Amino acid sequence: METIKLQEIFDAKIDRGDMIEPKDWMPDDYRKTLIRQISQHAHSEIVGMLPEGNWITRAPSLRRKMVLLAKVQDEGGHGLYLYSAAETMGISRDEMIEQLHSGKAKYSSIFNYPTLTWADMGAIGWLVDGAAIMNQVMLQKTSYGPYSRAMIRICKEESFHQRQGYEIMSVLAAGTPEQKAMAQDALNRFWWPSLMMFGPPDASSPNTAQSMRWKIKRETNDELRQKFVDRTVPQAEFIGLTVPDKDLKWDEAKQSYDWGTPDWEEFNNVIKGNGPCNKERLGARVKAHENGAWVREAAAAYAAKQQQKVAA
Ligand code: 3HC
Repeated sequence: METIKLQEIFDAKIDRGDMIEPKDWMPDDYRKTLIRQISQHAHSEIVGMLPEGNWITRAPSLRRKMVLLAKVQDEGGHGLYLYSAAETMGISRDEMIEQLHSGKAKYSSIFNYPTLTWADMGAIGWLVDGAAIMNQVMLQKTSYGPYSRAMIRICKEESFHQRQGYEIMSVLAAGTPEQKAMAQDALNRFWWPSLMMFGPPDASSPNTAQSMRWKIKRETNDELRQKFVDRTVPQAEFIGLTVPDKDLKWDEAKQSYDWGTPDWEEFNNVIKGNGPCNKERLGARVKAHENGAWVREAAAAYAAKQQQKVAA
């Protein structure tokens, strides 16, 4: 069947809101966009284990340690789901890992900031997972089947991540003045980088318009960012913390907040690899991959032996 007809069938499916499945014909650029987005999403989950993993041995109680351990393990599982979803589009795991390690592929900017105090574990769960949930709930309705199904599974675990983070911040904010100051400091350092997680403004996003037409995205970067601000500011106020934005103001007519502008120069710098922790994060991933080579070799040798047995 010629390409024009195939394109018409694809477009009709997208218009109807049907899911595109791995075996369906799809435009090369649709496939390329999804390989880029899903693999970078997976990289974000795996690299995202590092800032929190940094505090597992220093959690203030056994309960906090167990909860943080469970969360970090969840993130690893989310990464594997997403790598598998990306593989359905014809890219290999090795290729994706090589793209991450060589710096060709991105991962979420937020993970290039240091985690300096225990309150940062609360800010990450509350704000970073809160922002990720905002984005991932939307992606449950993305037009590519395997990605949508991975999101449905992942979102169930993300809500626990966000709640445990907000609980840490609530307990600290209600604690001693030093604890409240630690929570406020974490909010000050993670507020703006969390807003940058949604991507550049729609006006300067090279991918959003086309991703909306293909129903890969169902809401734009700015729409999700605004929803996140509207939902999160009252949560900060409820526990007595102050959002670090002097332009933040409730607009009664719009029933939403007006607020300041993220430092997009900082954002572009971080995604170019010049953030506070980019080198450390990538170095840790490369080292872990190298240290794990023997496991991959042993598994491959075992699989080959099993194949020989079956073939004999
Ligand atoms: N960090 C790093 N790069 C970013 C970024 C961010 N926060 N936001 C945008 N970018 C990059 C894009 O990847 C793109 O670069 P590329 O073309 O080289 O890939 C460029 O900046 C332009 O941005 P666009 O908005 O045009 O790009 P997208 O249409 O891809 O939108 C996105 C960006 C909204 C992040 C989209 O890719 C997306 O929804 N990705 C899936 C969700 C995701 O990756 N979330 C990351 C967090 S996962 C997480 O937090 C784990 C949780 O459990 C803690």
